[in-house]
Amino acid sequence: MKVAVVGTGHVGLVTGCALASLGHDVVGTDASADKVAMLGRGEAPFHEPGLDDLLAAGLAAGTLSFVGSIAEAVAGAEVVFVCVGRPPVGLGDRSLSAVEDSAREIARAAADDVVLVVKSTVPPGTTARIEKVMRLERPDLRFSAVSSPEFLREGHAIDDTLRPDRLVVGAGDRRAIEVLRGLYASMIASGVRLIETDPRTAELSKLASNAFLATKISFANSLARVSELSGADVEGVTEIMGADPRIGPAFLRAGIGFGGYCLPKDIVTLERVSAKLGYDFAMLREVSRVNEEALDAVARKVEEAIWNLEGKTVALFGLAFKAGTDDVRGAPALELAARLASEGSEVVAYDPMVEAAHAGHGPIEVVRDPYAAATGAACIVVCTEWPQILELDLGRLKDVMTQPSIVDGRNLLDAEVLARAGFSYHPVGRASVELA
Ligand code: UDX
Repeated sequence: MKVAVVGTGHVGLVTGCALASLGHDVVGTDASADKVAMLGRGEAPFHEPGLDDLLAAGLAAGTLSFVGSIAEAVAGAEVVFVCVGRPPVGLGDRSLSAVEDSAREIARAAADDVVLVVKSTVPPGTTARIEKVMRLERPDLRFSAVSSPEFLREGHAIDDTLRPDRLVVGAGDRRAIEVLRGLYASMIASGVRLIETDPRTAELSKLASNAFLATKISFANSLARVSELSGADVEGVTEIMGADPRIGPAFLRAGIGFGGYCLPKDIVTLERVSAKLGYDFAMLREVSRVNEEALDAVARKVEEAIWNLEGKTVALFGLAFKAGTDDVRGAPALELAARLASEGSEVVAYDPMVEAAHAGHGPIEVVRDPYAAATGAACIVVCTEWPQILELDLGRLKDVMTQPSIVDGRNLLDAEVLARAGFSYHPVGRASVELA
C-alpha cells in the first residue's frame, strides 16, 4: 500500500521503516529539512537497535523515501500516519498545534478515500478534532480519521512495532478498519491481535497504559521506602509480588525513579485531561510525587555516604533515562546532577552511549571512560542499569577514588561483591554495606 508518514521522530521513523520492511511503499516527511536530508542519506538521527539496517534496506529497495513537504509525501497515499511531535509547552501540557497544522496540510494535498492515522499520543477527542479541521479545510474530500496509538519502547522500538502485544485501531467507520487490517495483514497473519474500538477509547488507552506503568514503578518505590524503614528487601518483596500472574514482575523495579520522554509527561497529561473533564485523578499526582521522592532518596544516600557534598566530586554512572538508549530526555541522572551541583559538588558522568553533546549544557562533565569519571570522586552513583557497569574492575575504581562508596540507584550491583572489594554500598530499598 502507499503510505505517508508525517513526522520522523522516534515513532514516525520506526513506523515508516517497519512498514517499508513489510513491503509497503512509504514516503516520510519532516518539518526539519536537515533531518529529511540526513534520512535520505541513510543516517538515523537517533540510536535504535536495528533501525540503521531497516533504513538502509528500505532506501536501497526503493520502498522508503523522504521528501521535504507534506504535500509531496501525501500525494497519492492511501494511508497517512500523523506522528508529529508535541513540543512540551509546560510539563504535561503538550501543544497540539503541530498536529492541527499538519492535519490542515494533509487535507489540502490528500486524495479521496485516504485514511489518516493518528499515532502521536494525544488526549481523547483529538482525532475527532482533526476530522473537523480537515472537513473545514477540504469539504469535498472523502476521508477517515482514526486513532492507532503506538506502544513502542525506546531500545526495543523495531521489535515492538513489528511484533506488538496488540494493535489498536480506534475508528468510526468500517472501511477505515478494513484498510488498516490490510496494512497490518502480515502481522495479523502471524498472530498479532488487533483490537477494534472507537477513537476516544484508543486515545485514552495509550495515556492510561503509560500512567499505569508509572503507577507500578511508584508503588515499588514507595515499597522501597517502607523496606528501608522496616529492614525488608524490596527486591524480594517485588519478586514475590511479581510471581502472582495477576500482578506480573514487569515495571516493579525500585530505584531512582522513572524518566524518559513519555512516562513523566503522560502521567501529568492524563491528570490534566481528567481535571479538564471534571474528574480529579488525584492518584496520578501522588505517582509523580513518589517519583520525585525516589530521586530525593538517592540524593540523600549520596549525602549519607560522603557527608558534605560541597567541594566533593560525584561520578554518575549512566546518564540515559534507561539502558539501551542514548536518550537523556527526562533522565533522572540529569536532575540528580543539577541537584548535586547546586549543593556544591562537582559532577562527572560516564555513559557508554551518551555523547557529551547530547547531555545538554547542565553542570556536568561527560566522559566516555568510567575510570576517568571515577578519578577523584568520593562517590559513584549508578543512574542507568547499563550491563557494562557490571564488568568494571572494582579494584581499579577504588584506587582512583578518594573514598570507596557506591550509591546504586538501579539495584544493579551485588552487595557481597562490593563488600569484598572494600566499598561502602547503598542500594535502594535493601540493606546497605558500611565500611568497617
Ligand atoms: C514508555 C512505554 O513503556 C511505551 O509503551 C510507550 O510507547 C513510550 O513510553 P519508554 O519511554 O521507552 O517507553 O521507557 P520504559 O521502558 O517504559 O521506561 C520508562 C522509565 O521507567 C525508565 O526511566 C526506566 O528506567 C524506568 N523503569 C522502568 C523503572 O524505574 N522501573 C521499572 O521497573 C521499569
